[in-house]
Amino acid sequence: MDSKTEASITIDVPITREDPDTLGNIVKAGLLANPRTLPSKLFYDERGSTLFEQICELPEYYQTRTEHQLLVTWADEIVALSGAEELVELGSGAATKTRVLLDAMAQAEQLRYFVPFDVDETIVRRVSEELVNEYPGLQIHGVAGDFLVHLEHIPEGGQRLVVILGGTIGNLPAIAAEDFLTSVNTEMASGDFFLLGVQLITNPERLEAAYNDQKGITAKFNKNILRVLQTQLGAQCNPDNFDHVARYNPDAHRIEMWLRSAQDQTINIPSLDLSVPLKKGEEIRTELSAKFDRPLAENLLITSGFELVKWYTDSEQLISLALARKP
Ligand code: SAH
Ligand code: AVI
Repeated sequence: MDSKTEASITIDVPITREDPDTLGNIVKAGLLANPRTLPSKLFYDERGSTLFEQICELPEYYQTRTEHQLLVTWADEIVALSGAEELVELGSGAATKTRVLLDAMAQAEQLRYFVPFDVDETIVRRVSEELVNEYPGLQIHGVAGDFLVHLEHIPEGGQRLVVILGGTIGNLPAIAAEDFLTSVNTEMASGDFFLLGVQLITNPERLEAAYNDQKGITAKFNKNILRVLQTQLGAQCNPDNFDHVARYNPDAHRIEMWLRSAQDQTINIPSLDLSVPLKKGEEIRTELSAKFDRPLAENLLITSGFELVKWYTDSEQLISLALARKP
């Protein structure tokens, strides 16, 4: 690796400058709420990101391979329409599918800048090092931050394509999703493009199977939230004393993941002066994963300040990529 390539990575880590009370307050309010909840960004430490990568390979989790195939089919058109030289990915994770867009940008001789943005610092560093080797001359500015808080850390660049893939937008409650995309829109310049990957409403059995895999990887991922609670806040609890639950809520068209207490027990978090007694069978909601149809997705984009340019979907209508533009 030459020094020019090495010099093209910078990593900004605003997450470490976050007020430590903020996370504690969110966790405390969530665990005392009805229903009890935990913020799903807490799934993603190094172990959680690795478990999510394993989920993406599961036969039941059709989402990743379907979105990947859509990107393979449409990346050249998306890159040509956007004219982008800078790719910004919010919730970039392992950035596996992102390579399809980066390849298309490189092919079109448009690739200059990549901004992987994720709450898990380990994966931002790993991906930046991988990509700087895979794409010689690429300038990478990684951001390890919370995309609900640290969007202003996205550097100024040229013509931009901002992407949120994998259906991550569905992990936010509807109001929060709209506020978030409005903030994303505010960070963008007029004429910049935005690509939103959404999971579509489909048969509930198929949806539930995707979150209740035979190998139990999703269960491990769900329980990882308690391990992160232990490492980040010193929580005293045993993840083995909880069962993984994932069910479809048709009224809200979303999968909900819960941790169900397998016995009477108490979660203690001394740093928050918090003691949460749980009865056997009591549940804590750990994730929402909303599914969309075209009107729902289009309405979300329009209310956040975008105009829809193209709607790409697969033959089974499982996943969509909505290409939008800031007017
Ligand atoms: N885009 C990838 C990964 C999706 S998993 C794909 O399509 O496969 C969701 C990603 O969003 C994880 O990597 C997680 O760490 C990140 N994430 C979740 N909440 C976040 C937040 N509040 N701020 C920044 N990143 C977040
Ligand atoms: C990242 N996100 C879109 C995934 C989803 O499908 O909601 C997270 C996930 N949770 C369980 N399996 C996958």
